[in-house]
Amino acid sequence: MCGIIGINSNKPVTGVILNSLKKLEYRGYDSAGVATLVNGIINETKCEGRVENLENIIFKNKNDGSLGIGHVRWATHGQPSEVNAHPHSSEKVSVVHNGIIENSTLLKKHLIRAGHVFKSQTDTEVITHLITEYLKNNDLKTSILKMLKRLHGSFALGIIFKDFPDIIVGARRGSPLAVGYGPNENYLGSDSYALKSMTNKVSYLDDGEFCFIKKKEVQFFNSDGNKINKQVLEVSSDDQSYDKGNFKHFMAKEIHEQPNTIKSCLKEYIDKINNEINIINFPWNNKEIKNIKLIGCGTAYHSCLMAKYWIEQLTDLEVETDIASEFRYRKNKFKNSQLYVFVSQSGETADTYAALDLCKKNKMKTCSIVNVVESSIARDSDYVLPIHCGPEVGVASTKAFMGQLLVLYLLTLKLSFLHDKISKENYGLKISSLLELPKLIENTLKIERDIQEASKDFSKAKGSMFLGRGYSFPIALEGALKLKELAYVHAEGYPAGEMKHGPLALIENGMPVVVIAPRDKFYNKTISNMQEVISRGGKVLLISNKSTDEISSENLWKKIQVETISDELFPFLITIPLQLLAYYAANALGHDIDKPRNLAKSVTVE
Ligand code: G6P
Repeated sequence: MCGIIGINSNKPVTGVILNSLKKLEYRGYDSAGVATLVNGIINETKCEGRVENLENIIFKNKNDGSLGIGHVRWATHGQPSEVNAHPHSSEKVSVVHNGIIENSTLLKKHLIRAGHVFKSQTDTEVITHLITEYLKNNDLKTSILKMLKRLHGSFALGIIFKDFPDIIVGARRGSPLAVGYGPNENYLGSDSYALKSMTNKVSYLDDGEFCFIKKKEVQFFNSDGNKINKQVLEVSSDDQSYDKGNFKHFMAKEIHEQPNTIKSCLKEYIDKINNEINIINFPWNNKEIKNIKLIGCGTAYHSCLMAKYWIEQLTDLEVETDIASEFRYRKNKFKNSQLYVFVSQSGETADTYAALDLCKKNKMKTCSIVNVVESSIARDSDYVLPIHCGPEVGVASTKAFMGQLLVLYLLTLKLSFLHDKISKENYGLKISSLLELPKLIENTLKIERDIQEASKDFSKAKGSMFLGRGYSFPIALEGALKLKELAYVHAEGYPAGEMKHGPLALIENGMPVVVIAPRDKFYNKTISNMQEVISRGGKVLLISNKSTDEISSENLWKKIQVETISDELFPFLITIPLQLLAYYAANALGHDIDKPRNLAKSVTVE
């Protein structure tokens, strides 16, 4: 899972490639590289670490040309190092690759036997040697076709050549790839986002296709090598300033943006005059839907889990959730009465995309909930519900999670109404309560200081637990994930009622434990579970809502009370202290909060 950029221009391209690579770091940031053609010679510069390091190296040894490719890497084969960074070049070709070549070990053996010498431990290098080999006796198109036929797995490729100085080749199987059009120059990018500062005119390669990008034209071919035409689409322009404002990190900014992102999303979906939810024109007959399957990865999976509780509560539909990487390999029972909902911030997650693809092949009804509307998942689903929260830069998802929750709740309410499971009056009341959310989220953010104080103990802990029941359980999972991602502290999210079936054995003196206990029907039960933790030495941070009756704080380490809201909407508020907790714990440790170690924003390999 990596980022690719290619530019064929009549002006120097290195600076522009470096700027685009910085924007692509959300896809990987453990090494980076650029190759340009300078006076007919492939000039490659690579390094371990961030694009910033690459920039410093290039600044010292300028290698500018008017055609080049660049790459940011998230290591899959071979550790992050300069030699394993892309591009991988021979004297004749230079390759950047996103994805995994599954038969690389076998291909490498054959190539070594044919006399090729490998420099890196990557799967990608076989591509460099394969094309170099084919180019000895074939023209460019034939060499590309022959090389593509040998590769198994998923990939997006960008390739430049010593002997074809006006061509960048792009090829796609499995991993997305976009082509952009500019004045007297054309581009290649692992997504349209990479190209946004240069153009808003793009085409997307479909599986099996490849292209020749020249300065003034782009030729597209199908997997048989026949010329094809591609539609040119206009994507929204890059009007977002990727600026932290007064915040130290994007994550802090994104947490604080939530009252506004929720407000914008509500504006898109709520028709205040008619007190109605604007989720309309479904491409299927809603009455036919009897089951819903919600699919996602990471934080998006937690949104799915949250929606399961809402759908069960507010509709008669059967509902299941699935982690995309599991779903795609199981023996699934596809039924016409099923609606498949895919949740993904980026819309590019490889496993979620593969799960969508599987459903499409089985002719299922598909709906996606995404942040990036030009993404592969959005483009290929029957129906798209954007979350309207603007670009999310911090690798650990915050405002996108909140946006996913909101859209899933709106979809649930709408389906409940369309299936006659809720009265018009109750429907209207629930919509009106939603309109209060931005203000309540804003008020909840005022607990920041208290959370910052509590976070110190979490940053020093060996491990921690996040407990909740009912609606609070999926949020407990998300809170634990946030702490793992950012503070690198082991954290388990657990249903509070399940503690005594094993995890209670982990509780030892001083272990910090978050207990989420709103005043819902589970309140007394969760408080009893909390006491079980306290009596075994656990240091409990209780998160509840404000109420007239005081919470007994006997033996409690800390207590945070958020605004009062209906049980159904409590998850929106409880999310805030958990995001802040992880943020401040990581900050106290001096971690790279926007780019946590070993992770990437968009996971485009399985
Ligand atoms: C990565 C990110 C997570 C995200 C997950 C799913 O692991 O670091 O924050 O939840 O991918 O991403 P998606 O774009 O599909 O929501």
